[in-house]
Amino acid sequence: MKLIRPHRKFIQSYIEAIEEDELFRPNAEMIFSEPETIIERSYNFEHGINLPINYVRATAFWLIDKEKFIGEINIRHELNSFLINYGGNIGYEIRHSECFKGYGTKMLSMALIYCKETLNLNKVLITCDDDNIGSIKIIETNGGILENKVKNSLLRGNIITRRYWINI
Ligand SMILES: CC(C)(COP(=O)(O)OP(=O)(O)OC[C@H]1O[C@@H](n2cnc3c(N)ncnc32)[C@H](O)[C@@H]1OP(=O)(O)O)[C@@H](O)C(=O)NCCC(=O)NCCS
Repeated sequence: MKLIRPHRKFIQSYIEAIEEDELFRPNAEMIFSEPETIIERSYNFEHGINLPINYVRATAFWLIDKEKFIGEINIRHELNSFLINYGGNIGYEIRHSECFKGYGTKMLSMALIYCKETLNLNKVLITCDDDNIGSIKIIETNGGILENKVKNSLLRGNIITRRYWINI
């Protein structure tokens, strides 16, 4: 199992994961998107090239196991006024067919090493919906300490967001 930058070798597997999203998570806010440009967009985000206004630099990793795309994790290098309430430093998704196998927990623990060793962060903010049991367990298993819950008004409606810090 490894974390790699998005790579064309796994694009077909990534496309299959998008198809799973369309089938099983049709209305959810998902990370996997636009396979035609994902590699270039990820590179640009990591290197701060053509960042949309109010966006910060971010590194995307793909979790690969047995030559299959399993999931993606996005690590934002810093927080801005939006991310501090919603979004945090890290967002992730595991493809539907590979859920409940421990991949989400493992992917976050691997990403935290990058946060510490490469980005020199000593703590990260991770947020999730108050009813996202899978994500809550992933964060708490990785040492997340709940700071508070805040209300956010988003396009998908009013939600309660849990805000966790992980000291690394
Ligand atoms: C949330 C998500 C990342 C979980 O990934 P995963 O690989 O299934 O997570 P794990 O297998 O490591 O499971 C961690 C724990 O959560 C539990 N869990 C996972 N999904 C769950 C769900 N939908 N409902 C209840 N419990 C769940 C697992 O049973 C496991 O429990 P345990 O620690 O007691 O054994 C995945 O469902 C997903 O990508 N969802 C859509 C995107 C998303 O919500 N991203 C997070 C945004 S903050």
